[in-house]
Amino acid sequence: MRRARVGVLISGRGSNLQALIDACARPEYPAEIACVISNVADVHGLQRARHAGLPAYAVAHGAFATRDSFDAAMDAILRKAEVEIVCLAGFMRVLSDRFVDGWRGRLINIHPSLLPAFKGLDVYRRILEAGVRISGCTVHFVVPELDSGAIVAQAAVPVRPGDSEDALATRTLAAEHRLYPLALKLLAEGRVRLGNGRAIYNEIDGADGELFSPSPSLSGE
Ligand code: GRF
Repeated sequence: MRRARVGVLISGRGSNLQALIDACARPEYPAEIACVISNVADVHGLQRARHAGLPAYAVAHGAFATRDSFDAAMDAILRKAEVEIVCLAGFMRVLSDRFVDGWRGRLINIHPSLLPAFKGLDVYRRILEAGVRISGCTVHFVVPELDSGAIVAQAAVPVRPGDSEDALATRTLAAEHRLYPLALKLLAEGRVRLGNGRAIYNEIDGADGELFSPSPSLSGE
């Protein structure tokens, strides 16, 4: 089986990176991680990469005069590693249009809300303030506008009455760790691709069932 070569860009603890590392360890998984790049040195995610025996690079954005030159340095590492798909996993820098265009259709990100709701930062506070009862996470193709590219896959997560930001984050993160490997698998197998602003699927069934939150009961219990 041919495995797509993946580069993962991180800035922090790397729990989604770990989920991808674990998925790639499965013999039938159609992707392998060719390199990991962090824009912050000494983050836990880089330790996870090294522990897994992966080439891991710290590319400090502060050492570059411009966004373009920082992105070009990352791009050079990715091209040298013969990367085919780039996964952003908690990568906290905005990428230049040139970088995004260069990886069009092969660059995906995970975001801890049901996009297009709650783009940007400070997501859990805003979700709780809005009082939504169902939240979730989204894997999407990256376009220059933040958190706005075509949606590849989503998972729904209930918001429980009395949830703290931490509780919602923990529940959402558990869903992210299942969703990201699934979405990468679809892309690596060519079962999803970027069309004109929308994802186009091959031979994929939609999900069944509904998520109710709160769970309704008509029986009076
Ligand atoms: C995740 O919640 C992801 O959705 C967001 O940043 C967080 C990264 O967490 N983009 P981790 O570094 O993967 O643990």
